[in-house]
Amino acid sequence: MAEGIRQNKGNNVVRAAVVASKLICDILYLRKPTLYAISQLISFRNVHMLKPNILNLLNEQIALEDYSANLYLAMSSWCGHQKLSGSAKFLEAHSDDEHSHMRKLFTYVNETGAMARVGALAEPPCEFTSIKDVFEKTFEHEKFITSKINALVEACLAEKDYSTFNFLQWYVAEQHEEEHLFRSILDMMDIVGLDGRGLYLVDKEIGKKSQMA
Ligand code: FEO
Repeated sequence: MAEGIRQNKGNNVVRAAVVASKLICDILYLRKPTLYAISQLISFRNVHMLKPNILNLLNEQIALEDYSANLYLAMSSWCGHQKLSGSAKFLEAHSDDEHSHMRKLFTYVNETGAMARVGALAEPPCEFTSIKDVFEKTFEHEKFITSKINALVEACLAEKDYSTFNFLQWYVAEQHEEEHLFRSILDMMDIVGLDGRGLYLVDKEIGKKSQMA
């Protein structure tokens, strides 16, 4: 009798072990998508949450960088039409750069668990009075972009959003480089002049700057 009870208990332990191992297998192997979804939810909960005003400013900046890409592409087209191939090449390369600035912001916003938006863009100007007019406008546009980046950085400090503040330091340094680049092109135009062969030489030099665009 006692032997029978012991055997029964033993069978129950084995049965419980089988059920438990089946359950573990079920969770580990058969419910992978469910486990993945849970892990995603947990990780989303742990990512850096953006404050609504910071998210709005970041999305605005995404649209501005996108607009910059279109503006420089329109300028490149105008230059090409004027047979200024160096400037056309430089501005086309710079348009690609602006697009990469937009994508970098886009990825950052999505990585925080917020949603990056691709807003509607105004049509950029496509007519210019001269090559000087084109580069004066690029310089003014970059100064405007710098002011927007600075406002974003200030908002991050006010909100104690140090992660976004840190991310934006790349843009602060980039704006310094871009303002310097466009100012140096305007300086070159002033020194060399745009009459006669001057225009040819300036356009050629601008073309060489494509790698720095
Ligand atoms: Fe991305 Fe030229 O500012």
